[in-house]
Amino acid sequence: MSQKAESWGSRVGLILAMAGNAVGLGNFLRFPVQAVQNGGGAFIIPYLVCFLIMGIPLLFIEWSSGRYGGKTGNHSTPYILDTMAKGRVWKYIGVFGIFTNVAVVSYYCYIESWTMSYVYHSLVGTFNGLSQGEVANFFNTYVTVGVSTTGIPYEAVIFYIVCLAINTFILSKGLGGIEKVAKIGMPLLILFGLILAIRGLTLGTSGASDVFPDANAWDGINFLWTPQFDSLTNPKVWLAAAGQIFFTLSVGMGTIHCYAAYLKSKDDVALNSVSAGFMNEFVEVVLGSAIVIPIAAGYLGLDWVMKNAGFGMAFQTMPYLFQQWGTVLAALAGLFWFGLLFFAGITSSLAMGTPWMGFMRDEFDWGRNKAAWSFGALALVMGLPTVFFYNQGVFDEYDYWAATVSLVVFALLETIVFSWIFGIDKGWREINEGADIKIPNIYKFIIKYITPTLLLIVFLGALFTPLDNDWSGNLHSLFNGNGWTLDNSSIVNQLAFTGLNQQIEVATDAVELEKLRDKKFFMSLARFMLLGLFLFISGIVYLAFLKRRKEGRATL
Ligand code: ALA
Repeated sequence: MSQKAESWGSRVGLILAMAGNAVGLGNFLRFPVQAVQNGGGAFIIPYLVCFLIMGIPLLFIEWSSGRYGGKTGNHSTPYILDTMAKGRVWKYIGVFGIFTNVAVVSYYCYIESWTMSYVYHSLVGTFNGLSQGEVANFFNTYVTVGVSTTGIPYEAVIFYIVCLAINTFILSKGLGGIEKVAKIGMPLLILFGLILAIRGLTLGTSGASDVFPDANAWDGINFLWTPQFDSLTNPKVWLAAAGQIFFTLSVGMGTIHCYAAYLKSKDDVALNSVSAGFMNEFVEVVLGSAIVIPIAAGYLGLDWVMKNAGFGMAFQTMPYLFQQWGTVLAALAGLFWFGLLFFAGITSSLAMGTPWMGFMRDEFDWGRNKAAWSFGALALVMGLPTVFFYNQGVFDEYDYWAATVSLVVFALLETIVFSWIFGIDKGWREINEGADIKIPNIYKFIIKYITPTLLLIVFLGALFTPLDNDWSGNLHSLFNGNGWTLDNSSIVNQLAFTGLNQQIEVATDAVELEKLRDKKFFMSLARFMLLGLFLFISGIVYLAFLKRRKEGRATL
């Protein structure tokens, strides 16, 4: 156990690092899209409810489990779970807490590298005078590896490797390096965010163009903040809200466990976890909703935004919209916006490196450099297919399985371990040990019953999503003996490529058919890579177990 002495330098550093772990691209890119696609004000209520009854309990569980593992020198989930629940299987469940991070970081760093590249292009004026179509096209060309946007050959690959190298270098400096980046990155991010949000909120109708004369930035804000209570009965919106809460808080990933394992044994987890969680929510709900949507709605109209909301929207539209503010302000706004995204991204991707490093250092006594650079190499092997075959769907496949499905599965299993195997009484004592606030007792009940039940519902709902998300119709059909028809977005049908197979069956155009077959090939490749990664990490966990057994340290 080579790293017992390592711990956080200060409380401020810890909170900023934890908040930085949570505040990420999800806050600025994923949240607005989810909110728009799920009805704006219709989304916010389920989202806030999910934060209170799933997000906060999971923060308590992960912070306290992490600190508990750290007391016995365990800094990543395989052996944190192993110390909490006796039984050989739990350390393999803990593999999720390393696997998810390596898989997510490999494509997450790709987006992070776009932000670096876009800062560069904003400053050198690449977007000056381009039409909206040309800006959108720039992005599409950029992600088509081999086709150069500006004469830099393999630009996307170069920026990706540089970005991964920066992450790895900082990781090799240990917790001190992460704390330093968080202390610089988080305040800058909030400052940049506030400047852009104020600009977005004061845009009014001044951005309306001839094409969209009625465009108004406030339409975007009103759309998001006018509550619609009928959404409370729509399971699709609830699933999306729960998924966003997992992603944005980084729960179900294993990063929080790892960071918390470096706490001192009597350090508070109650107030710290809530503070980091609320800081994330401020950045997401206040800043995340006040930039892309109002600015895009101000120039292009709310209808356009609703039709085109997607992950790439921030790259395909913002540089063009900033151009409307004049050359100098456009360069500054580009720097602020893509710089903000870069800081949001890097404070999260650094966190994703720590579980692998913690594990290799705990189990095999690896030094910081070896642990960090091996992580970088693994992420590179996993990530290059997402860069080269972005247009073929590898990126989306990673995002779906690693950042959506895995999070829910692991969150469910760890909640069961915490509440039912480790035991809620012991768990509640852990959460309250050294606490600087009094947590309402209702949370003991919520953690034991409500959170696992909701997680189970979310998981089953995603596994068996009914056709067209029509829950009542399908339940009716089931009770009448007419069965349950799965939607192609359900995990079961995704696994079986049902939607894609249907498209292949009806495709008549040879080129289209070829494209669909390619897509299936590359999606299978992505799944093969992900499965291989999971098995590889499981193999390493098994080797660690053999080593522990030989040294007489294995629990079973
Ligand atoms: N929580 C991180 C984000 O929101 C992963 O991007």
